[in-house]
Amino acid sequence: MKVAVLVSGNGSNLQALIEDGITVDAVVSNVPGARALERAEAAGIATAVFDAADYPSREARDTALADWLNSRGIALVVLAGYMHILADAFVQRFSGRILNVHPSLLPSFPGAHAVADALAHGVRWTGATVHVVTSELAAPDTGPIVLQEPVALRHDDTVESLHRRIQAAEHNLLPRAVRLFLEGRVALAPGTRRMIVDVPEDLSGEE
Ligand code: GRF
Repeated sequence: MKVAVLVSGNGSNLQALIEDGITVDAVVSNVPGARALERAEAAGIATAVFDAADYPSREARDTALADWLNSRGIALVVLAGYMHILADAFVQRFSGRILNVHPSLLPSFPGAHAVADALAHGVRWTGATVHVVTSELAAPDTGPIVLQEPVALRHDDTVESLHRRIQAAEHNLLPRAVRLFLEGRVALAPGTRRMIVDVPEDLSGEE
């Protein structure tokens, strides 16, 4: 199953996938010159930029992006710090085959400011989530959850210090979640929004 990773910035999650030994077939950025593209090139991975400024609309850009991914035989799309909302038509074309990593314990703190929002709320725990992307426009960050890892807040945390610890959790979770997908070890429980995940810790609560 061919994998593409969509990025916008630094690309530390992409790096975690590469270092885990996952074969990444293409890396796509919406931001020209993103550090993540350099990481991909250093690893010998094909890259492309789909900049919304080059298209009449976001939808047109996302259609071109989906066509490009299809033409390369991509079956799994991983959003690793991709900061644009994907058009519904894109999500439908890759239905059930898009993963996203988010810096909170969803459903708490969806959106683009999850780390700052958790800090401002004063929660004792936040964390990282990998989930399947469903409709992003209607309800971002709400698709079925594959893996989560909690991170405790400290009284002297800043957004930066907290985000660093959350990113360590992300770098652990994302490669594991991608492998589970590639190995066919995750499935949606029929009639629910719960994922059946074939890892021991998820079975520990089962009878
Ligand atoms: C991650 O924390 C991710 O959860 C959020 O953006 C950040 C991207 O980091 N959506 P990187 O580009 O993978 O270093």
